[in-house]
Amino acid sequence: MPVRRVALLGATGSIGRQAIQVVERNPELELCALASGSADLAALATEHSVPHTQVGGDLTELLETSEPDVVLNAVVGFAGVGATLWALERGVTLALANKESLVAAGELALVAQERGGGMLLPIDSEHSALFQCLEGRAASSVDSLVLTASGGPFRGRTRADLVEVGVDDALAHPTWSMGPKVTVDSATLGNKGLELIEAHFLFGVPYERIEIVVHPSSIVHSLVRFCDGATLAHLGYPDMTVPISFALCYPDRAATDVPQLDLASGLTLEFSAPDLETFPLLILARRAGELGGTYPCVFNAANEVAVAAFLEGRLPFLRIAEVVEEVLAAADGGAARSLAELVEADAAARRLAGRGVPVA
Ligand SMILES: NC(=O)c1ccc[n+]([C@@H]2O[C@H](COP(=O)([O-])OP(=O)(O)OC[C@H]3O[C@@H](n4cnc5c(N)ncnc54)[C@H](OP(=O)(O)O)[C@@H]3O)[C@@H](O)[C@H]2O)c1
Repeated sequence: MPVRRVALLGATGSIGRQAIQVVERNPELELCALASGSADLAALATEHSVPHTQVGGDLTELLETSEPDVVLNAVVGFAGVGATLWALERGVTLALANKESLVAAGELALVAQERGGGMLLPIDSEHSALFQCLEGRAASSVDSLVLTASGGPFRGRTRADLVEVGVDDALAHPTWSMGPKVTVDSATLGNKGLELIEAHFLFGVPYERIEIVVHPSSIVHSLVRFCDGATLAHLGYPDMTVPISFALCYPDRAATDVPQLDLASGLTLEFSAPDLETFPLLILARRAGELGGTYPCVFNAANEVAVAAFLEGRLPFLRIAEVVEEVLAAADGGAARSLAELVEADAAARRLAGRGVPVA
């Protein structure tokens, strides 16, 4: 395979650091650009001889200058939207960890991808799993998608148990080591709500045919049920190296250090329905997705504001879902026909969410 030039956005984060390790292992991959939100990139750029860097600001400027073959978008939050649309519009391969951009801008992203004609390779482990199970299959043969959720640190707890939980409790994820925002999203199951909407836009499957099940050991990353009664699943130890490597090397598979699954070691593959009463963000995400328009963008914006306030100790855990519910009820959810309109919908939802969050 000819050398692939990778623009790594969110290079200093959890996914970004693991992506650098994947690039280091593969001579066919080369970093051509690095971006962060505020962290200094000078040492990283020197160590990996990366010619272009950018800290904050409009990431599409960096992409225009560096002319990548692949954009790996591992920015956290809505800040990644511009880069996602840039890559899709130009037909540049997009390796997407930044699920928030596809949730907020799903309809615009589909139009951009149609025009650009490039590849969109998901890095979320569940969606990478679904992508692999669906590859080469006719859409008409698909019955339904099943997204697995670890259940996070609060699996099995009731609402009453969660009244007093704090930041450290929410950050203690049982199976995945990730950045703080996505870890809190995993504790509220808001992450699975975002992934539900992400799956809808990635695979064109209606919401009523996307199921979420709790699977505590995070070995089965997701499943596809087919019309003939067969179900295909993707299994492996929980390690983001696998979906990152899959997306960067596609359609090849490169060796990684991730151990092979040891089936005789006493693995447990348990599944159960999620507790929607304790984790209402799952219901709210499904509702926002089904309503369409800018409702998914509103869901995402309100969630970002509430999670940030929780991480700063300004909002109790259970208020995160309440803030999202209040903002969804107050928002108009109209269509967004351009990135500018979407940015306005995001900003309006953030203003509404700010009213439900105590000031610092
Ligand atoms: N971590 C995982 O295992 C995992 C798994 C599946 C999906 N994801 C998704 O991947 C994305 C990244 O997650 P993460 O866990 O890697 O997050 P993280 O550790 O918090 O890292 C976030 C990265 O984004 C950068 N960033 C923030 N705002 C930015 C901006 N305005 N412009 C440019 N860069 C910006 C940060 O830079 P600074 O260091 O300067 O703040 C950092 O490099 C999220 O969408 C998450 O949901 C993560």
